[in-house]
Amino acid sequence: MSTLQFLITFLLLFFFIHHNGASAPAPICRESSCSSDNPPYTRFPFRLQNLQPSICGYSESFDLSCNNQNEAILTLPSSGHFIVRTIDYTSQNVWITDLNSCFPRLFLDHGLSLKGSPFSYANDLVNFTLLNCSSSAETPYPPISCLSNNEQYVITAVPSDSTVPPSCSVFSTASVPLRDPLDWSIIDLYGVELAWDDPDCRFCGRLGKFCGFENAKRSKLICFDIYKYYSSDNDTVRTSEIAIITCLGVLGLLLTTAFFLRLMRTCGRVQQPIVELSTITNQQPPAVMKGLDDATIESYPKIQLGQSWELPEPNDNTCPICLGTYKSKETLRTIPECNHYFHANCIDEWLRRNATCPLCRNPSEGNKVIIEA
Ligand SMILES: *[C@@H]1O[C@H](CO)[C@@H](O)[C@H](O)[C@H]1NC(C)=O
Ligand SMILES: *[C@@H]1O[C@H](CO)[C@@H](O)[C@H](O)[C@H]1NC(C)=O
Repeated sequence: MSTLQFLITFLLLFFFIHHNGASAPAPICRESSCSSDNPPYTRFPFRLQNLQPSICGYSESFDLSCNNQNEAILTLPSSGHFIVRTIDYTSQNVWITDLNSCFPRLFLDHGLSLKGSPFSYANDLVNFTLLNCSSSAETPYPPISCLSNNEQYVITAVPSDSTVPPSCSVFSTASVPLRDPLDWSIIDLYGVELAWDDPDCRFCGRLGKFCGFENAKRSKLICFDIYKYYSSDNDTVRTSEIAIITCLGVLGLLLTTAFFLRLMRTCGRVQQPIVELSTITNQQPPAVMKGLDDATIESYPKIQLGQSWELPEPNDNTCPICLGTYKSKETLRTIPECNHYFHANCIDEWLRRNATCPLCRNPSEGNKVIIEA
């Protein structure tokens, strides 16, 4: 047994040194949002300025900031600040609305200018005539509430080729990008849909993966699984996949070694070699490949958060798995090897499937327990 232990310790040590040596202050790109549970969830090509490293965004044009109401704000060079409602990464659309809650007003005179931004309207412009009607008039379309004064008059938008009803007068014209040309009210509710073509990450969206720069040269885009790790020397890459593959490789090696050592020991015995051999081949390989057993997981330290609490560096107050903020009374668990904290229920589920820390991919000591069990 001491040979096996020596071998495992050696391999783990080798892995830790190798792993930590390259990754000290590596920027990590993962989804973020201005308030823990609220969309839009921001990721490449967008970036939340103070929450995500600059390598996580495509360019300054895609930088978002958070206002004091935890809304994500996009700044268009020729039109100012807008609230981002939703981002659709697969079709590359973003819904924006204005800060003064009367978005339609922006389209009245000159319209909203997208000049100098990477965005275009996702829909064609439709010409409307805006009518000022007496409040008793029957208007064919719903009033634009933020422009109307319901006591005295209502403002409504009709397609520009419509005839003007008798109790209305022409108030203004407007060109508006609408998906449904008859439904102006959608911009009241959802704002306007913009699209971007560059960078084109639709290929990652279709694979259900995330998009990002391959390395700090910012020249090539790649798809990756959950997080993107950039190495600190800014030149080489290490993606989460590489970390996983390395871990799996080490695991595989450990498994094979353990299996053969066990086999040798078993064959050395006089009694019951066949029974024990079949037990090993049936049970052990899947158990190790899957993740940790409950006993190992339970052996990792658990803490319950009090009214005030502080986690040791490098943890912040967000669970990296579910992205929820920690609250008092919640139970956290830490992986002793790397001191990373998570919600206990999040990390337990993870460890049952993966034997490595989801943040740093450090393999857990627990593998040893399974092999020996
Ligand atoms: C909308 O009006 C503008 C002028 O205000 C005109 O140039 C444009 O062709 C019109 N578009 C449509 C679809 O009628
Ligand atoms: C609409 O018309 C009424 C009079 O019919 C006028 O008092 C009001 O100012 C007009 N509203 C706008 C926004 O022009």
